[in-house]
Amino acid sequence: MTLRVAIIGAGPSGLAQLRAFQSAAAKGAQIPELVCYEKQSDWGGLWNYSWRTGLDENGEPVHCSMYRYLWSNGPKECLEFADYSFEEHFGKPIASYPPRAVLWDYIKGRVEKAGVRDLIRFNCPVRQVEYDEATGKFSVSAFDHNTDTLSCEQYDHVICAGGHFSTPNVPTFEGFESFNGRILHAHDFRDALEFQDKDILLVGSSYSAEDIGSQCYKYGARSITTSYRSAPMGFKWPENWEEKPLLVRCDKDTVWFSDGSSKKIDAIILCTGYLHHFPYLPEDLRLKTNNRLWPLGLYKGVVWEDNPKFFYLGMQDQWYTFNMFDAQAWYVRDIILGQITLPAKDVMTADSLAWRAREETLQTDEEMITFQGDYIRSLIDATDYPSFDIDGVRDTFLAWEHHKHEDIMGFRNHSYRSLMTGTLAPPHHTPWLEALDDSLEAYLADTPADARKAS
Ligand SMILES: Cc1cc2nc3c(=O)[nH]c(=O)nc-3n(C[C@H](O)[C@H](O)[C@H](O)COP(=O)(O)OP(=O)(O)OC[C@H]3O[C@@H](n4cnc5c(N)ncnc54)[C@H](O)[C@@H]3O)c2cc1C
Ligand SMILES: NC(=O)c1ccc[n+]([C@@H]2O[C@H](COP(=O)([O-])OP(=O)(O)OC[C@H]3O[C@@H](n4cnc5c(N)ncnc54)[C@H](OP(=O)(O)O)[C@@H]3O)[C@@H](O)[C@H]2O)c1
Repeated sequence: MTLRVAIIGAGPSGLAQLRAFQSAAAKGAQIPELVCYEKQSDWGGLWNYSWRTGLDENGEPVHCSMYRYLWSNGPKECLEFADYSFEEHFGKPIASYPPRAVLWDYIKGRVEKAGVRDLIRFNCPVRQVEYDEATGKFSVSAFDHNTDTLSCEQYDHVICAGGHFSTPNVPTFEGFESFNGRILHAHDFRDALEFQDKDILLVGSSYSAEDIGSQCYKYGARSITTSYRSAPMGFKWPENWEEKPLLVRCDKDTVWFSDGSSKKIDAIILCTGYLHHFPYLPEDLRLKTNNRLWPLGLYKGVVWEDNPKFFYLGMQDQWYTFNMFDAQAWYVRDIILGQITLPAKDVMTADSLAWRAREETLQTDEEMITFQGDYIRSLIDATDYPSFDIDGVRDTFLAWEHHKHEDIMGFRNHSYRSLMTGTLAPPHHTPWLEALDDSLEAYLADTPADARKAS
């Protein structure tokens, strides 16, 4: 009997899983029957942009947390697939910090080439997963919005690749109910032009606060104030950007911070992170964690220790992204194909706890990047995923950090060498701060004049 495997989500992680199986099939392996459930109408996960906020056309929570003018916040050389380079996809070397549409195109290119789209059921949110001890099978219930029907099918394995940057973590602060301006979470931010000539406050001090603040600066916000709970970001900000300690309260147009200072503000954007939220999973399969490098309960970061027929992909905080999801997907594939044998539960748990103990000692970004690189190496060593220069990726991350601290509004003008092809990326035709058109056509143009014609 052919095994049946359900994959939840056709974002970069779920697509990595489909590609992993297809690559084994291309080498002659017998692979299971695969069904990938995707609640959106297209693939690419967060990279599949939607203008919608709140509920989607089917009444489902909108998955998209991305926004217009979003450019990669790290060098593309750090996330490149080891089996499908940017150069192969675009037919030429391209600059190092592509906007969203360019990365979406790249993600799609590999799976179009692999021919796996037919394995995905679009507009099909998974509603419930259950495991039956007696049969050893999972039932997966999904709603098909194309036919307005609910289905329930049996599977030998389930792989959850539903992402964890979509359900917002939304704290409240005193006075929010009487604030006259707009209050939104980063998840619902779509267009920086909305905040042109406005004084805005961003709560949070991580990537969303940094990047949404930078977008708003680029597109003409009057002033940007970021408020941190633990530590300031500490970049050399432009003159109209200041960092303040935690927001304490606000009234109709003024906010106060814990150092006693205050400021008049037009809008508040909560860049306060996301929740791991899997309402369709039963208690005994549900991962509960904050956003960190080593969530507990996952052997090798992917195997659900309490039921090792169930897997998660991409649940870690992410320095590495696409090639880490690949390393995970190849590893999960080989467990399902019987090429990797899992140890007893206590051995799996001890292994996880050892990674967690190391995670807890990490102080610097360099140590965290090295930790995640070591993790990826441990997965790749066990499969036939093409090995790549992980130390080289770490060095690229370190150069990126250095460039950010040198010039937070200019770091995206740098170029890096591909660790997959050895090619040095060409500089982009326009400095990031002046590049207002984030379309694929404008980005891929060779000169500013060609970019203007293309847009
Ligand atoms: C604002 C923002 C910017 C980012 N920018 C970058 C960047 O520049 N570079 C980078 O490398 N990474 C970036 N990331 C990180 C991002 O998490 C990864 O790049 C990547 O999208 C994660 O892939 P994933 O497949 O694990 O999750 P997702 O991309 O979230 O995809 C999950 C998929 O599962 C589907 N799904 C969820 N629940 C269900 C269900 N119940 N039933 C069926 N389908 C379901 C969703 O519709 C979605 O398609 C960014 C993240 C955010 C939030
Ligand atoms: N252009 C891009 O590529 C881009 C843009 C945006 C985001 N991203 C990606 O999106 C992902 C998520 O980033 P994120 O910044 O949204 O989330 P995050 O990294 O999890 O950070 C959450 C932030 O919210 C703060 N916070 C949480 N609860 C709070 C509260 N009650 N009060 C005050 N502050 C609170 C945290 O502060 P503490 O430090 O005190 O915990 C932290 O600064 C990352 O992978 C990032 O790379 C990418």
